[in-house]
Amino acid sequence: MQADPFRGIPNTERLAAGIAALAAITDPEQPYTRRPFTELFQRGRLWLREEMEAAGLRATLDAAGNLVGRQAGREDLPPLMIGSHSDTVAGGGRFDGVIGMIGGLEIVRSLKELGISLRHPLEVVDFLAEEPTDFGVSTVGSRGMVGSLSPELLAKTNEQGRPLSEALAELGGRPEEVPGQVRRRGDIAAYLELHIEQGPVLDQEGIPLASVTGIAGIRRFNVIIDGEPNHAGTTPMELRRDALVAASRFVIESELVFRSEGNSVGTIGYLQISPNMANVVPGQAELIVEMRSIDPQIIDRIDERLHQKAKEVAKERGVSIKMDPLTDATPVQADPRLIEITTQACRETDPRALVLPSGAGHDATQIGTIAPIGMIFVPSRAGISHNPAEWTDMEDIALGVQAMARALFLADEAF
Ligand code: HGY
Ligand code: MN
Ligand code: MN
Repeated sequence: MQADPFRGIPNTERLAAGIAALAAITDPEQPYTRRPFTELFQRGRLWLREEMEAAGLRATLDAAGNLVGRQAGREDLPPLMIGSHSDTVAGGGRFDGVIGMIGGLEIVRSLKELGISLRHPLEVVDFLAEEPTDFGVSTVGSRGMVGSLSPELLAKTNEQGRPLSEALAELGGRPEEVPGQVRRRGDIAAYLELHIEQGPVLDQEGIPLASVTGIAGIRRFNVIIDGEPNHAGTTPMELRRDALVAASRFVIESELVFRSEGNSVGTIGYLQISPNMANVVPGQAELIVEMRSIDPQIIDRIDERLHQKAKEVAKERGVSIKMDPLTDATPVQADPRLIEITTQACRETDPRALVLPSGAGHDATQIGTIAPIGMIFVPSRAGISHNPAEWTDMEDIALGVQAMARALFLADEAF
């Protein structure tokens, strides 16, 4: 093998072409959007499957709807797994999830061209629906892979009353087979994910790479606020039980709680009111609140304080406020051996590489419940993500792919 064969990875032109090809599969009215369970998402999936097969992988769709491209290893071992997600938020970016997928395919192609084979079988996975779906559930495919896609989550319905299980079956998943295909501890040798930082640190430092120490936990509640719909012209202000005003009070109080806690963030990004008419006092408001921290005790504390605030606002505004648990992904630490490996791989690629925690959630959070995980970050310009302005220079993505190839090779020897 040459002195440093990884220096020739990736073929940046091919990498850029793949990222551009997937970015072109989007809702033209709202770039970049490939919502799971939509025809657009399926078009992206079809393209990815063809790319996997062109790269020499055997592509299959597992019961939980994950697209898995697999190649054999020299030995009969549990596979190494790399991957990410090809779905997006509405009006998201063209790099979130995508660079882990296209980067994974580029690594397969580059290793083959360099004549480098691995001891372990390798799986490149496009996890289904990493982003929150219209059913309120996120990381659907990776939950399914590790046995956390419960019947309750599969029964969650969208605004049309359709259950997640039906949407999963329609795209080729097999909900009834999900329990039988669950991967257990030991079934995956190690999981590695290349992802954009989605925060400002690398960009501010002008450094292209970071290895990741852990991933923040995310707890979400569906909050239903019931007041009383009433005539906007004849109902005196003091007799109103206005659900939107109560929701607004809850939002302001929640934000004060989020700001008062360190090492955490909180967001209310979804709000619907009904009947949503100009001349009707809002009768009901529905919102989703999420809280995140790398420290589970801070999440518990925020949870408790928000429940207290809900009680206070309900009393003050004469409404009922119900907080139904939606999802709860606990914080996950990267495997210490993989932190060492990803740090070494990043620093062999660029000696300035940092070591960072992840404030964003990832499929690695779910896989980390049954396998060792590691991640590598590349910069997000101005820390912007979940926004069409999301940007990472191709040179930095190329360095991320090279570092990931190095990490994969080191993990192949170490695990
Ligand atoms: O929400 C997240 O943290 C991830 O980008 N889906
Ligand atoms: Mn995202
Ligand atoms: Mn992502």
